Amino acid sequence: MDKEVLLQMTDICKEFPGVKALDGVSLTVKRGTVHALMGENGAGKSTLMKCLFGIYNKDSGHIYLEGNEISFKNSKEALEHGVAMVHQELNQALKRSVMDNLWLGRYPRKGVMIDEHKMYEDTKKLFNDLGIDVDPRRIMSTMPVSQRQMLEIAKAVSYDAKVIVFDEPTSSLTEQEVEHLFEIINMLRDKGCGIIYISHKMAEILRISDEVTVMRDGTWIATEPAKELTTEKIIKLMVGRELNNQFPPKTNKAGEIALEVEHLSGQYSLLHDVSFNVRKGEIIGLAGLDGSGRTEVLENIFGIATRKSGTIRLDGRPVLNRNARESIKNGFALLTEERRATDIFGILDIRENTVISNLKNYRGKALPVMLDDKKMKKDTQWSIDAMHTKTPTQGTKIRSLSGGNQQKVILGRWLLTKPEVLLLDEPTRGIDVGAKYEIYQLIIDLANEGKVVIMVSSEMPELLGVCDRILVMSGGQLAGEVDARNTSQEEIMTLAAKYV
Ligand SMILES: Nc1ncnc2c1ncn2[C@@H]1O[C@H](COP(=O)(O)OP(=O)(O)OP(=O)(O)O)[C@@H](O)[C@H]1O
Ligand SMILES: [Mg+2]
Repeated sequence: MDKEVLLQMTDICKEFPGVKALDGVSLTVKRGTVHALMGENGAGKSTLMKCLFGIYNKDSGHIYLEGNEISFKNSKEALEHGVAMVHQELNQALKRSVMDNLWLGRYPRKGVMIDEHKMYEDTKKLFNDLGIDVDPRRIMSTMPVSQRQMLEIAKAVSYDAKVIVFDEPTSSLTEQEVEHLFEIINMLRDKGCGIIYISHKMAEILRISDEVTVMRDGTWIATEPAKELTTEKIIKLMVGRELNNQFPPKTNKAGEIALEVEHLSGQYSLLHDVSFNVRKGEIIGLAGLDGSGRTEVLENIFGIATRKSGTIRLDGRPVLNRNARESIKNGFALLTEERRATDIFGILDIRENTVISNLKNYRGKALPVMLDDKKMKKDTQWSIDAMHTKTPTQGTKIRSLSGGNQQKVILGRWLLTKPEVLLLDEPTRGIDVGAKYEIYQLIIDLANEGKVVIMVSSEMPELLGVCDRILVMSGGQLAGEVDARNTSQEEIMTLAAKYV
């Protein structure tokens, strides 16, 4: 039997200055189903959802919830009518407690006072129902991004919504948390909710969704039952052509030893006695489970995590890398995993976001307080072109770019510091399939110029497709090393479990 229609959006149009973000898009979501929304970075997915949620005013089109036409003026109204959204960008009051964030704007009251006790008990109950183990009084800033993201999910559920939108909910979740989220989504589906799920992770989409709608350049392309789709079919619908190769040809050649890391141990992490060398022009992958110490290796090399012991040499010369500034000066760059939460300066424009880690390079020769505008423009343009960043101008505020395009700006920022050693933590997270290829190409080009690249990735095919050697971390230690051309996912998984 066909399921009943819960939400219908028809012919939605939305224009921003210089961008037609939505051009007659329609979407129908049925009760008790998960509907995936897919498309390249900047296709209009988040914008469509923001029109539903009342964050943006649509220019034209209609939205019906259970057959009644709706047009929410703001997110409060949407929530009151049973439409909730977990946003791509976290927007939380970090200095406040978990429960403050959860009930902000709808505190339970006792007379004129906030009923703290009820708020605590309600939070406890909600977390219990969802299997979340967090103290409601904990201050947000003390929690990792992944837990804060789980909290955002709990908040959406707490509104008892009929329609819940998840906009790239798993971008910072650990594998375990993803499983947990899927349990929650299945529970909501069984309750009869309509779920809209946005993600760039094919495997997730094929696993969790009932139907898939693909958008391209602000238009509707197709809606299909998930069971009739494959990764290849989805990619073709998304990019509008066959994408034969997911990875560019590997043309880089390893030269002499450039980076030597010896007996690296972390002060406040489990990282223990990690040693390895990397050659010029070599691309090294760091594999392992969540929490195995992959990110810690990068953070310790870059000096933003405290080292207990260990030495680092670049081209035979010892480098201390005691903090980020010193590391940048020594020719290192780190693209962090949590860049979406920590590295984007929302109120600044693309150009400012591009040059910000590298300002000394733009100081005028005669007058160092003056910045060389021409050079900043030229470099920013290089970054936009290299990464195919979709933006009207360099002067556009970064927060008005789509999530994936913001990420490209941050990657460009680090490439422009002209690092000798590029440390990349999940470089293609949140990036669409087509743009991934371009980023792989950039990584290989950098290796061709003799740079050292070390990348952490949870996507095994990516490590196998781009890297030369893969170091496998397990329980904070180096469990082994494999040749990327001559290994298997099984071999890597076995090593990853060595010290668990
Ligand atoms: N507030 C805004 N001001 C100006 N332009 C905007 C604004 N919000 C979105 N856009 C533009 O609308 C287009 C669609 O963006 P949207 O965020 O909907 O993409 P998306 O499909 O969610 O992409 P991603 O996968 O990267 O998150 C982009 O070109 C973006 O730059
Ligand atoms: Mg988006």
